[in-house]
Amino acid sequence: MITLKNIGMTFAQGTPDENCALKNINLDIQQGDFITVIGSNGAGKSTLYNVIAGTLTPTTGNIYLDVPNSTPQEITKDKEYKRARYIGRIFQNPLLGTAGKMTLEDNMMICHKKGYKGLKISLNKSMRDYFRSQLELLEMGLEDRLNDNVEQFSGGQRQALTLLMTVMSKPNLLLLDEHTAALDPGNAELVMKLTRKFAKNYNLTVMMITHNMQQALDYGNRLIMMDSGDIILDINAQEKAKLTLNELITRFRALKQKDLNSDAMLLQ
Ligand SMILES: Nc1ncnc2c1ncn2[C@@H]1O[C@H](COP(=O)(O)OP(=O)(O)OP(=O)(O)O)[C@@H](O)[C@H]1O
Ligand SMILES: [Mg+2]
Repeated sequence: MITLKNIGMTFAQGTPDENCALKNINLDIQQGDFITVIGSNGAGKSTLYNVIAGTLTPTTGNIYLDVPNSTPQEITKDKEYKRARYIGRIFQNPLLGTAGKMTLEDNMMICHKKGYKGLKISLNKSMRDYFRSQLELLEMGLEDRLNDNVEQFSGGQRQALTLLMTVMSKPNLLLLDEHTAALDPGNAELVMKLTRKFAKNYNLTVMMITHNMQQALDYGNRLIMMDSGDIILDINAQEKAKLTLNELITRFRALKQKDLNSDAMLLQ
């Protein structure tokens, strides 16, 4: 669905601060894939998302989009706002995905309008009923709080809401960048359960960066491991289903040739 060919990303090229964050990445994301992405700090995971989402233009290589009912096209240089129509992205900070000073229904309306570009749609009873039915999926009682400002909600509620609103805009690809890392364990688990539910119910294509190796094993049909700007491991569904946490850590150690003690956060 999205193909990356020989993608390289070098920051501050030609200066003493030159930093090669992605080295010749080749990746074929298939429709319906749920890919978990692991790797140490600075491995290039978020940079990979940035080039997929159009936040950054890669220094080398090409990106292609091939979605149902559209002609395949190259999108390497397409602007981020253009790609936002088919790529949804959720960050670690639960305050980033929603507008705190606006009501819940206004937040949902903005997101809903994204899917109906150019059409005039207004907030009426049937729209509110639709929003309520969607909010019920979160099982947080938010369906009774349509007129509350979103800033009154907890971090977990806001992140769950961000997830719901992103899914409602029907992205072809959903990029999750440690989207539960800033939540307490209870809320993190809740948002993860919702992630699984939405991915399955809407047959989403998902990439999920996590520092939690167990989570990387438990979720998805494919696992990629990044290190120093490279994809050093790409595990398919069959292999992943058999893989244990210990085996994954052993493979990570062998590939990185460094003791995981200094990467303690991977074992959280
Ligand atoms: N805008 C930028 N300008 C310059 N260097 C950058 C920029 N963004 C990222 N880098 C560098 O690129 C490398 C990869 O960073 P990136 O944020 O992709 O890592 P990551 O795998 O997401 O790490 P983490 O797990 O800490 O989030 C790092 O060396 C980082 O300092
Ligand atoms: Mg990152």
